[in-house]
Amino acid sequence: MNYMGNAVWWDERFRSRENVLMPPEAKLELDLKYFEESHKILDLACGDGRNSVYLTKIGYKVYAVDFSIVALNRLKSFARNEGLEIKTKLTDINDIDEVSKLELKVDAIVVNHYRVARELYPVLITLINNGGILWVNGFEEAPADNPNIRERDTLQDNDFELLKNCILLDKEKYKVGERKFIRYIWKKKECNQQKAVIG
Ligand SMILES: C[S@@+](CC[C@H](N)C(=O)[O-])C[C@H]1O[C@@H](n2cnc3c(N)ncnc32)[C@H](O)[C@@H]1O
Repeated sequence: MNYMGNAVWWDERFRSRENVLMPPEAKLELDLKYFEESHKILDLACGDGRNSVYLTKIGYKVYAVDFSIVALNRLKSFARNEGLEIKTKLTDINDIDEVSKLELKVDAIVVNHYRVARELYPVLITLINNGGILWVNGFEEAPADNPNIRERDTLQDNDFELLKNCILLDKEKYKVGERKFIRYIWKKKECNQQKAVIG
């Protein structure tokens, strides 16, 4: 399943953007307290890097993954302009094998405005250190003002059904104008015992 479009579609979308980095996700800025114990963060489906650049600037070591080469090139250029170094990896995260080969261990993963396939969550959790954070933010409902985002692109509670050894620290539904969003924060348990429970 493609989120809004395939890599060619996203390349074109990023190519047509002005050469300006968008501000970071406001919800992520508000949630920084959840990342206090984190050092290394994976920004999954990072786009052209508004959140990667922001997190790097405030001191995190960020690893940025996306399947759009145009997005990653823009990210690298924005980072360079700020004198920052961000490791990037061109990866189609629909390809679960490719993600499991990332050979990464991070303290947190952020997924902003992307719907991860539910089968990927058990792999993602192996990339997170015990006690680490999985932060997922996206549309709760397809917005009326953007036909590119469809019902199938919206986050659902059962997306996380296969997530084990995690507790839901927080789940929040919120609105920005007429647009409805939802944000989940999961914490990987220190010891591997219990199944994930949606609160
Ligand atoms: C709405 S943008 C969000 C970008 C970024 N997270 C942000 O908050 O600005 C969705 C991103 O998902 C990426 N994407 C979509 N499908 C993907 C896939 N299968 N593998 C990797 N990245 C993907 C797109 O290239 C795009 O950068």
